Amino acid sequence: MILVTGATGLNGSELVRRLSAKGIPSRALVRNPAKAQPLESLPNVEVVEGDMARPDSLTDALRGVERAMLISSSDQTMVEVQSSFIDAARRAGVQHIVKLSGIIPELDSPFRFARMHAEIEKRPEASGVAYTHLRAGEFMPSYFRQVPSIVARGVMALPMADARIASVDIGDIAEVAIAVLTTSGHEGKTYPLTGPESLTMADVAAKLSAAIGKPVRYVDVPPEDARQARIAAGMPPYLAEGLDELFAERRKGKESTVWPTIQDVFGWAPTSFDEFARRNAAIFRGELPSPR
Ligand SMILES: NC(=O)c1ccc[n+]([C@@H]2O[C@H](COP(=O)([O-])OP(=O)(O)OC[C@H]3O[C@@H](n4cnc5c(N)ncnc54)[C@H](OP(=O)(O)O)[C@@H]3O)[C@@H](O)[C@H]2O)c1
Repeated sequence: MILVTGATGLNGSELVRRLSAKGIPSRALVRNPAKAQPLESLPNVEVVEGDMARPDSLTDALRGVERAMLISSSDQTMVEVQSSFIDAARRAGVQHIVKLSGIIPELDSPFRFARMHAEIEKRPEASGVAYTHLRAGEFMPSYFRQVPSIVARGVMALPMADARIASVDIGDIAEVAIAVLTTSGHEGKTYPLTGPESLTMADVAAKLSAAIGKPVRYVDVPPEDARQARIAAGMPPYLAEGLDELFAERRKGKESTVWPTIQDVFGWAPTSFDEFARRNAAIFRGELPSPR
């Protein structure tokens, strides 16, 4: 049995939907039953309640599980939550943990979540459970946060200066996860995952313009203004400060490398930003609700 954690979130729900569509049985871990409804109607999916931070709540979820996908939220508790899950999984006899990580986890990174991912990656490595680390670049749906400003003013405002970034489609991440969770040979491997190109924000704005058929202009905002805007929009200060650190890294070009892993290891061409923008044009026009 495959267990998917973070199953109500962006990547976990995409993975569960794709496993279901392929007829591959999976178990979806949810901590809030109110959010489980969209998963419950999917064929081949068993929804189980549990909290990754509370090992005693995971007994049913982990019974008979051979491989697990490890995802949780970017917040203060990420190390504790994911470490607690890894320990519980190891005790329950899980043989392989596939972790959704960041693109550059470093113990001494100025970006708090990169430090946390580096620390968490060491856990299964040290525990003897087989692991695979999926180090994902910026998720393309991150640009859904720009929808209100694109719809209202035709503007995409980010503190990115003229730096490039290689973002990745979450459908590609899910397909890689399925390959790793259902075939052998990926144990002990670390896979950096990006899309096929490294883009400036002016490039991204031009691609969004082409997809929605109306001008979108990139405006570079000072980092401090961006942080204040996030807090004013209701983002918890811890996360707002984390994003501040992240954008400082990105402005230095830290996430600009294009990695060929998806093509070279898994054998398909990763989704381009043009394709992502075309597929989601109705969301960027404000005609459909944003899932993010
Ligand atoms: N944003 C990016 O561009 C980017 C790039 C690379 C890597 N990452 C990493 O990707 C991860 C987030 O992935 P995502 O965006 O797909 O997730 P997400 O949409 O933020 O959802 C997080 C999921 O984890 C669940 N969760 C959190 N704590 C839990 C707990 N104690 N027990 C059970 N479930 C718990 C949440 O459940 P609820 O629905 O109940 O809250 C939710 O299903 C983070 O580790 C982040 O650092 C992000």
